Amino acid sequence: MGISEAIYKRGKTAGVFPSLSTRRDEAYMDFIESARNLLLHAQQEPIGEYSKLLLKNAGKSMEPDPKSTAEAIELLMKDNVLKTYYRIKRTLQESFWECTYSSLHMRKNDLLRALDDAEKIGPGSVAYDLDFSIPEYATAEIHIQPGGNVNDPLSGLLYDYGSKVFMGGAADNDMFADMQASAVATPQNNKVHRILDLGCSAGVTTSALKRIYPDAEVWGIDISAHMVRYAHARALGQNLDINFKQMLAEELDFENNHFDIVVANLLFHEVPVSISRKILSETLRVLRPGGSFTLIDFSGDKSRDVYTMFFGAMDAADNGEPFLPGFVRSNVEEIMEARGFEMHPYDPDKFILAERIGFKPNH
Ligand SMILES: C[S@@+](CC[C@H](N)C(=O)[O-])C[C@H]1O[C@@H](n2cnc3c(N)ncnc32)[C@H](O)[C@@H]1O
Repeated sequence: MGISEAIYKRGKTAGVFPSLSTRRDEAYMDFIESARNLLLHAQQEPIGEYSKLLLKNAGKSMEPDPKSTAEAIELLMKDNVLKTYYRIKRTLQESFWECTYSSLHMRKNDLLRALDDAEKIGPGSVAYDLDFSIPEYATAEIHIQPGGNVNDPLSGLLYDYGSKVFMGGAADNDMFADMQASAVATPQNNKVHRILDLGCSAGVTTSALKRIYPDAEVWGIDISAHMVRYAHARALGQNLDINFKQMLAEELDFENNHFDIVVANLLFHEVPVSISRKILSETLRVLRPGGSFTLIDFSGDKSRDVYTMFFGAMDAADNGEPFLPGFVRSNVEEIMEARGFEMHPYDPDKFILAERIGFKPNH
């Protein structure tokens, strides 16, 4: 069986997401995706208004501090409508992982063989170390994905398919990644020879960057061998020449002043703040003077009120995001500046996702 046939068994209807093993599973997951869209995403605004009304009627503070957030959780989680909404959210999340996991594992051997075969061919390359020592913080079951990012040999495929369902179709055909890659800052003097994508997962943003800069040498690194193995096979399926390597973003195995562009898309909220400080120092080291760093992640608590802090805390619990609350409160823009980045103006009122852009000074 060829690599593409093994992974994209039923064709590429929504782009290059791996297909599940049976039509029944695919139908079920389409149902879960639609249920998430209708019961969760479409209700988010009215649920938000309802929650704020409950807070107001109870005379609660709207300040986004920890004490008010704890009080909001206590009050709102006594309400039956909200209890049901968050129960549905958690159940749909558990259901989609259960199905994705069992369906992909049904043909685990074929899929692993396809990843092994992909390693031997280009364009592009993949490198990892079977004895790599994974820090404890990275073993959390982020997104409640079975095995998390590092402990399941199919974690790259699970993550890719799971993201498709989680995004409710917005990531189909790599649309979301193309949009995010197009927001990546060009370096001073516009010369782009080398690009590094930190915490690349399935390599979706890495591939989008390669499409924008086809002549650049593009690298995607991730702490998980299973992620980079799949990222290589996925990029190969699109004939993209990208180098993937298992590596810690806080201990980059690259020379000083090596890259014109460094990107971290949704990495920082998945690591402790102490690690993100080290990642920023390493990023500055490997960037050339005038090089750009684009950090795309959740916005900070400046743009939040107590309801959005409550929503974030629920999301952190239901979506298995232990480091998200710490990141939101950390004021990453200040940390970047303190590390020595020249910051591009940042809109603190931007909610959900925001880009923080920093340049390595020329002096
Ligand atoms: C939410 S995903 C990133 C998504 C990806 N950048 C994209 O655009 O699709 C976070 C990734 O960061 C990786 N990761 C976590 N800690 C890391 C670290 N210290 N160094 C490198 N990668 C790390 C995880 O294995 C996971 O694949």
